Amino acid sequence: MSRQSQPSFSFRFDENNQELSISGSMRPQYAEELDSCVKMVETAVAGMRGTIYVNVKRLVRLNNLAFHVLGGLLVRLCDERPDLRITVVTSSVVGWSTRKFGALRERNAKINVEKYDNDFYPGQSFVENSDFIHVLRTQTKMTWRHEKSILPRHGMRPGLNIADICCGIGDFAVLLQKEFQPARLVALDHSRSSLAYARKVASDFGINGIEYIYGDASDMLLEDNQFDFVTCRHSLQVFDRPELILKELFRICKPGGRVYVTNEKNSHCLGEPRGETIQWTYNEVAKLWHHFKMDIECGPKSRRLLMDTGFDDVQMESFMVTNMDGDPQDFADIIESWKNLFAGDMANQRGDSPEFIERFKRGFDDHIFAALHPKGYAGWPIWVASGRKPL
Ligand SMILES: C[S@@+](CC[C@H](N)C(=O)[O-])C[C@H]1O[C@@H](n2cnc3c(N)ncnc32)[C@H](O)[C@@H]1O
Repeated sequence: MSRQSQPSFSFRFDENNQELSISGSMRPQYAEELDSCVKMVETAVAGMRGTIYVNVKRLVRLNNLAFHVLGGLLVRLCDERPDLRITVVTSSVVGWSTRKFGALRERNAKINVEKYDNDFYPGQSFVENSDFIHVLRTQTKMTWRHEKSILPRHGMRPGLNIADICCGIGDFAVLLQKEFQPARLVALDHSRSSLAYARKVASDFGINGIEYIYGDASDMLLEDNQFDFVTCRHSLQVFDRPELILKELFRICKPGGRVYVTNEKNSHCLGEPRGETIQWTYNEVAKLWHHFKMDIECGPKSRRLLMDTGFDDVQMESFMVTNMDGDPQDFADIIESWKNLFAGDMANQRGDSPEFIERFKRGFDDHIFAALHPKGYAGWPIWVASGRKPL
């Protein structure tokens, strides 16, 4: 792998993946400033065949001169080498790049542009659907009662620089802001509908100071070593490559700071009466999520995931949200929102039969029955884990 960097951008070629990654801000004044980059690519590509990937997901600025040099290089490589194709990988996070690089296809049809975060993880269509907002709203209301007192045990205190990555509708960030008065609070997510909701709530309720950012948690534009405390709740279980998100959480956390994650193990949801049908349905939930490459069983794996990423001093605990925490109807609302999503869109997309869906729904209905029953008990267990980035 060769690498060349200038103050504002980096240009690196990974031979194993046949991938040229360009990131930062590329604004030369003279074409000669890019001579060595061009030479490096020409040399690297000389021995390769097939598809060359040009990753510009983190290229935030590109002036006309740089585009002229870079575009010219890609077109020339395709013109001169019948055995080469080029795929430029852009991101919706950097809005202009798909249109700009897309124009190169008119100069050589072997240049293709792929927008990485268009369908970039299998569960995306469910969690970025505005219906999901209801699921998140009902959940945080119940989990905050517990996490409010759990967080300080994991290092949360007033005055920290905090990032809530995969923030969803931003309600957790608002609660953090009110309870712990951070010095800075950044909340990032990839769901435009959730972020729009978060910004509206903040403006309606006059909440200032939360920086809501659209971004990909597995490849963030945030700089290294910035935050004392980084949270990522219920999201490693949604994204199909959680290790990439963890690597990024580690990167943006300051040495000595902590990363805090929460995850579930849905098959351990429980209730009485009607424990058996409830159990059956939640075992099926785990299989359904697995079908879409999401790991809703990930909670107890959090310790290993944090340690494998390089964190030390890993702390872990679990808590159970129950119908006895407050108004049992709040618990029932969570289950109703799960039923609508899991036994609705998700089961339909998997192609489940009407008979299966009916049985699947029954477990959720029985869980609601247990929650609202005067002598009933219904629970949803959650695992909290945090680790320190070594000094
Ligand atoms: C189950 S929700 C949890 C949201 C919030 N943390 C909460 O606890 O209410 C998962 C969130 O992760 C976000 N997400 C998943 N993968 C992401 C990625 N690669 N980049 C940014 N956000 C992502 C989804 O958009 C969704 O809002």
